[in-house]
Amino acid sequence: MERRGTTDHDDVQEQYDETASIFEEGMARMALYHQHCQDPVIFRTLGDISGKSLIDLACGNGFYTRRFRKDCGADPVMGVDLSPMLISQAEAAEAREPLGIEYRVGDVTTLELKRRFDVVTAIHLVHYLQGEEEIEAALRRIHELLRPNCRFVTMIANPEFNLAKHDQQDSKRKFGYYFSDAQPGNGGLLRFHPGGFEKEREMTFELRRWERGFLDDIARRVGLTPEWHDPFISAEGLEEHGADFFANYVSNPQSKLLELTKS
Ligand SMILES: C[S@@+](CC[C@H](N)C(=O)[O-])C[C@H]1O[C@@H](n2cnc3c(N)ncnc32)[C@H](O)[C@@H]1O
Repeated sequence: MERRGTTDHDDVQEQYDETASIFEEGMARMALYHQHCQDPVIFRTLGDISGKSLIDLACGNGFYTRRFRKDCGADPVMGVDLSPMLISQAEAAEAREPLGIEYRVGDVTTLELKRRFDVVTAIHLVHYLQGEEEIEAALRRIHELLRPNCRFVTMIANPEFNLAKHDQQDSKRKFGYYFSDAQPGNGGLLRFHPGGFEKEREMTFELRRWERGFLDDIARRVGLTPEWHDPFISAEGLEEHGADFFANYVSNPQSKLLELTKS
């Protein structure tokens, strides 16, 4: 993929706009993954955020943004995403069930906001950024958005994900996604197929997997202290399906959680 400047994310935006009509269906097909594999580490790391101001970056159609407001009690809450189509869906959900969330179309690498927040979240963002310059630009903006001693909590492509250990059929059948490529090295391309769709409707996203040390260095340079958290399976998931059901996923998760604290 071509190296791009800090304001040019047209191809990512177009891809999300184009797939917006099946985005919600794809999310529904990944419900078991979200509930038992991804949510536990997100919500445990966030802890009690009741009454705290929160901005959800790369918020998509507001799937998590609404939960941060409704289930966690964060207030006020704002959502920002590159895709006008997904922001329209988020606003439509807000119109159907008002929670007081404000949405805005915007690119994280160039976002200009005067407001400051207690919590910044991004459930999958950094793997759409194209290199050190863009990641540093985004983290500098996130640093500006945060109040002192506050945190950025983000899900991120697992730097140690191993394609050879990834059982595509098992993952697609149980969790509604699979990977078909994972190039080694910093910035190595991952080919991700979310939603568990059959060939004719399949979505394919190209993501970049960044190494821990590389991200940690950029974070420290902009004034953020990194802490990585491994995903874990919910107690309900273990009770309902048993540990074996999750064995392939747990030994080789697609994502990790990165918590960056502003000192
Ligand atoms: C996998 S979706 C995740 C959406 C949402 N966080 C969720 O988990 O349901 C990734 C989102 O990142 C957004 N995105 C990618 N690059 C971005 C950027 N530079 N600025 C803002 N949003 C971006 C895309 O438009 C897309 O909605």
